[in-house]
Amino acid sequence: MNSKNQKVGISNFEKEVCEGLTAFPKYISSKFFYDKTGDALFQKIMALPEYYLTNAEFEIFTKHASGIISSFGSSEEGFDLIELGAGDGKKTKVLLQELENRNYDFSYMPIDISKNAINNLVENLSVEMPTVHVEGHIGEYFEILDRLKHISERKKVVMVLGSNIGNLLHPKAIQFLKELNNIMNADDLVFIGFDQKKDPQKILDAYNDKSGITAAFNKNVLTRINRELSANFNLDKFIHWEAYDPENGTAKSYLVSTEKQIVDIDLLSLEVHFEAWESIHTEISQKYDDDIVTWLTKESGLEVICSFADENKEYKNYVIQKTN
Ligand code: AVJ
Repeated sequence: MNSKNQKVGISNFEKEVCEGLTAFPKYISSKFFYDKTGDALFQKIMALPEYYLTNAEFEIFTKHASGIISSFGSSEEGFDLIELGAGDGKKTKVLLQELENRNYDFSYMPIDISKNAINNLVENLSVEMPTVHVEGHIGEYFEILDRLKHISERKKVVMVLGSNIGNLLHPKAIQFLKELNNIMNADDLVFIGFDQKKDPQKILDAYNDKSGITAAFNKNVLTRINRELSANFNLDKFIHWEAYDPENGTAKSYLVSTEKQIVDIDLLSLEVHFEAWESIHTEISQKYDDDIVTWLTKESGLEVICSFADENKEYKNYVIQKTN
């Protein structure tokens, strides 16, 4: 029961699916999107023309590599560059290359819950950037950060890229930033991407692409429930729906039942009743502006030192420190 093996993750999935699908209105957390198929679909999303976030962040890293690296500290100082969430490394490599070119004394430490993601990234970097010292860590972000705090005296620069914080509504984002604050020393930094408020149509298009990849990504959570919890969701009886509220900057994804239906989830001994056009809320992708980021950091005992934007100011990376 209390051993920290994968069973905990699975039973957590059971528990949360049960809670969310018996609640009103219904919901499933987007953290469950990322099984093997979900990871692959998210890779495809990042390559979509509509999904501007990845390109914008890549543009920022490419154009401002020098300024970003200088904001992390001096080349002699030495620090651990920690990334929460291991992507395919495409964006991060730009920064690693700049650090190498300028002879920075650093270690790159990606942290991810997925063993697979860490192994692939570490393997890839050992081939493509063999001179970079890489140390992958598998597990929960804050467990590992806490451990690192006790084993390494070095300055830490913690990166949270891709506007991943956008999956959290403000109270939870503040909780997340406070947890970061807790493991930080006075000279540590956070380098974090926040997708910005923009033309609402552009946001809707990014989360409702023409080729239907995002719809498949959203519906995949039902396939996962079918497989892992012996359920019988019929994916043809749900549509993907995206809504964006320009007032609060919140984009929300839903799965909407196109008819009155009952779905059985055998492993939970649960019958889920859907009215025609009833929704399951699955994801939030929060959009920000400088005022909101300033407020979030202030609430968390942090402050913005500087920021880097793409040409159209559609996306920004902020360098943040502890308020002293
Ligand atoms: C990985 C959470 C940043 O919300 O933009 C992409 C996930 N969902 N398309 C986002 C996602 C639909 C993405 N994040």
